[in-house]
Amino acid sequence: MSPTGATDPRWWRHAVIYQVYVRSFADSDGDGIGDLPGIRSRLGHLARLGVDALWITPFYPSPMADGGYDVADPRGVDPVFGTLDDARGLVADAHSLGLRVIVDIVPNHTSAAHPWFQEALTAAPGSPERGRYLFRPGRGDGPPNDWESVFGGPAWTGVADGEWYLHLFDASQPDVDWSTPEVRTEYLAVLRFWLDLGVDGFRIDVAHGLVKADGLPDAGDSDQHGVAVTQRLPYFDQEGVHEIYRSWRAVLDSYSPPRVAVAEAWTRDPARTARYVRPDELHQAFNFHYLRADWSATDLRAVIVGTLAATSPVGAPATWVLSNHDVQRHVTRYGDGPLGLRRARAALLLTLALPGSVYLYQGEELGLPEVLDLPESVLQDPIWRRSGFTERGRDGCRVPIPWTREGSALGFGPSGSRPWLPQPDGWSELSVEAQTGDPRSLLELYRTALRLRRDVTPEADLEWLESGPELLVFRHGNLGCAVNFGPAAEVTVSGPLLLTSEQCEVDGTNLLLPQDTAAWWSIP
Ligand code: NOJ
Repeated sequence: MSPTGATDPRWWRHAVIYQVYVRSFADSDGDGIGDLPGIRSRLGHLARLGVDALWITPFYPSPMADGGYDVADPRGVDPVFGTLDDARGLVADAHSLGLRVIVDIVPNHTSAAHPWFQEALTAAPGSPERGRYLFRPGRGDGPPNDWESVFGGPAWTGVADGEWYLHLFDASQPDVDWSTPEVRTEYLAVLRFWLDLGVDGFRIDVAHGLVKADGLPDAGDSDQHGVAVTQRLPYFDQEGVHEIYRSWRAVLDSYSPPRVAVAEAWTRDPARTARYVRPDELHQAFNFHYLRADWSATDLRAVIVGTLAATSPVGAPATWVLSNHDVQRHVTRYGDGPLGLRRARAALLLTLALPGSVYLYQGEELGLPEVLDLPESVLQDPIWRRSGFTERGRDGCRVPIPWTREGSALGFGPSGSRPWLPQPDGWSELSVEAQTGDPRSLLELYRTALRLRRDVTPEADLEWLESGPELLVFRHGNLGCAVNFGPAAEVTVSGPLLLTSEQCEVDGTNLLLPQDTAAWWSIP
């Protein structure tokens, strides 16, 4: 089934896609954890917001050692999230509202509870069961090499017979061996399973990690994830991943209309990321270089220019993202409090004015900040434990979102229920209910900006108009956009003003843009 009124097979090239972190979006049964029926009940919010699609984080059977990114059965639904029928119903409801649905696929590792890994544990070294994972003999008394887990500590755990298995994340997330044909066949079948159920595409977890360098050589650095963004590691961004995505693309293209995939690929620069979106590979890759840029005209301009220069030769649309479930929320990154909020308002207009596709993270439309003071007793991210209780991890951006002013869970769950992470005092005023209808609210700014964005010429090039060390002014088709990072500045607008992130003075074609403010105007 396809979304109604949405027949454009190139929809993804300029789509706005909203990330639903399932555990924290809406809880239908009061167990404190979000679920699929909860998402179904809140689809109206997404339709009214004006997004094109939702990406739902993993809801598959899982021990939840990493919030569901430890998948024990990639073809099922964990009972805490609902049933396969709920998944079917959710896809059907979304489509009837004109929303497409993208689901996560986690091909770099399984859960240790996956039947494959359970078989591997009891099988002999060198057996086909072990060959689905990366089991190796140790080096002396230690692990086979110096690789570090992204979550802290070594990336290897020993088993009783003396072999070690690789896990780039938690020890409960063993990496699968993509040089084993059975692994390749299995994941192609998993893709087909969800495509046959009706999903419109996939977000590929750790897309840059599936293939490891031959011989598993040492990385040679003792702080590998501190350097990962500037340097290539023997387990990330290896050439062999591209062949896998070519075979996935053939499956996606075999459906009518063709389905899409977006890579979670952390690479050292936009040119490396663009290699994942060559014409016969994936459709999109998250632009983490944009997310990592400081709130600075120079830095953001450099990323925008670099991204467009890297994506246009391969014919792929750029993507833009400011927040997700793995990073500190951008209101907080940009200065927190009123300053962070003001910058987030301006950042929204900047992001939505850029050519390509945009990913939003649930709650950013409400201006939710990172919750920095969650009690230690509630922290669940494996980073907290694996860092020896020194890094709090990512729970602060995963706090369940507030829908209503009242209620024990602020509408996240039924009255009387308690969310799995506590919502801070004051979130009642950030709720969807509190912001709806208030023209000054961030939520209404999102709604208006998303509505106006629908009229922007798709696929037009970005043209820089003026710019300085503290000012970005550009044109994207029929839309003009200016963002001022420094003291109030005058900008010439060549058409009617459409929207500003703060109140501005305008006199004819002269717009006085205060600090940390953005404006849109229409270009005839
Ligand atoms: C990236 C996911 O976004 C993150 O949440 C997860 O912990 C790791 N991949 C491991 O699957």
